[in-house]
Amino acid sequence: MNSLVGISKMSVHDIEGVYRVELQSFATPWTKEAFYYELTNNPYAHYLVMKENEKTIGYCGIWIVMGEAQITNIAVDPACRGRKLGDLLLGKAMEYCKMVGATSVSLEVRISNIVAQSLYRKHGFQNGGIRKKYYVDNNEDALVMWVNI
Ligand SMILES: CC(C)(COP(=O)(O)OP(=O)(O)OC[C@H]1O[C@@H](n2cnc3c(N)ncnc32)[C@H](O)[C@@H]1OP(=O)(O)O)[C@@H](O)C(=O)NCCC(=O)NCCS
Repeated sequence: MNSLVGISKMSVHDIEGVYRVELQSFATPWTKEAFYYELTNNPYAHYLVMKENEKTIGYCGIWIVMGEAQITNIAVDPACRGRKLGDLLLGKAMEYCKMVGATSVSLEVRISNIVAQSLYRKHGFQNGGIRKKYYVDNNEDALVMWVNI
């Protein structure tokens, strides 16, 4: 069977699938309630979901305030990594930011997360500052990365 990958705006019906990816992707995963709040109560939040043959395999969260976009999280199902799908998803997210009028995108990434940093660099992100002990689970520093779009 040919696989069909699509990226669209996330709705509350996608929370279950996104949460499954979230649990497999992060040391301190967001709760389902946090996703629900984002989708229903946060006017700055924009979420994209990536599906393959209708199964959720990734998502990307963005906050956009006054033309400045911030990627809050991006993840691909571990079983689907290494297939350029993170590339595809980040590219779409940046296209989306541009389309709604953002002029820059920034994010924080764990200092140890070389894979994600490499993905961001590929999309033009540069290193900004360091946020010391930003991640509370292990006191890890965050690297801020940004790009003008
Ligand atoms: C980061 C993540 C989204 C990348 O998704 P992916 O689908 O595996 O990545 P892709 O196959 O699209 O690869 C895109 C780029 O990422 C980088 N990359 C991917 N896998 C890599 C690896 N094993 N080692 C080094 N770089 C890697 C490379 O720059 C790659 O481009 P290239 O193949 O042309 O060199 C995925 O690893 C993930 O969900 N990680 C857990 C969650 C996370 O850390 N999110 C970021 C939080 S800030």
